[in-house]
Amino acid sequence: MPTRIARVLFTEAQIRERVRELAAQIQRDLEGKDLLIIAVLRGSMVFLADLIRFLPMPLRIEVIRAASYGQSTVSSGVVNIRDDMDVTIQNRDVLLLDDILDTGRTLARIREHIQSYGPRTLRTCVLLDKPARRVVPLEPDYCGFRIDDHFVVGYGLDYRDTMRNLPYIGILDDDVTPGPVKP
Ligand code: IMP
Ligand code: MG
Repeated sequence: MPTRIARVLFTEAQIRERVRELAAQIQRDLEGKDLLIIAVLRGSMVFLADLIRFLPMPLRIEVIRAASYGQSTVSSGVVNIRDDMDVTIQNRDVLLLDDILDTGRTLARIREHIQSYGPRTLRTCVLLDKPARRVVPLEPDYCGFRIDDHFVVGYGLDYRDTMRNLPYIGILDDDVTPGPVKP
């Protein structure tokens, strides 16, 4: 089942520059705070690794898992959270990191979940935002790029759990994107 990239949306260099800018913005806002970055696995791993190396301030990282897609490119609407976190969240300044904000269901659910631990502040940061697809009203505090409604892969983002390792972000060919996967 070969998959193809129809078009490169953001090159390695463009992503790097934008991640650097985001880090500078985060640094300005959160310098001197007790920063805890919680990354949503697995899509935000690459973003996390790059972002933290542009942040010179002291910080901690933690991960949380969420899955809503299963084996499809269309969200199932049900968000499963797997929480093995063992850090103190109470009274910390939390930055919740995800790869992409699509319908908003995932981030809204996780946000609510983390909020229940009583952080001092809770901000959200996504590399990509597809506002046209939003179902749950949610605006990220930090956003790398706003994009049109395309299914994108690379730089951590997957198609059926593959293509995360592409160093750029690309739009998947139309012929592999439609609808749920047949059983
Ligand atoms: P939401 O709950 O609909 O906002 O979906 C968010 C999650 O869906 C993200 O964390 C991604 O894992 C996945 N997702 C949404 N759009 C794309 C895409 O274009 N490519 C790859 N994954 C996507
Ligand atoms: Mg995903």
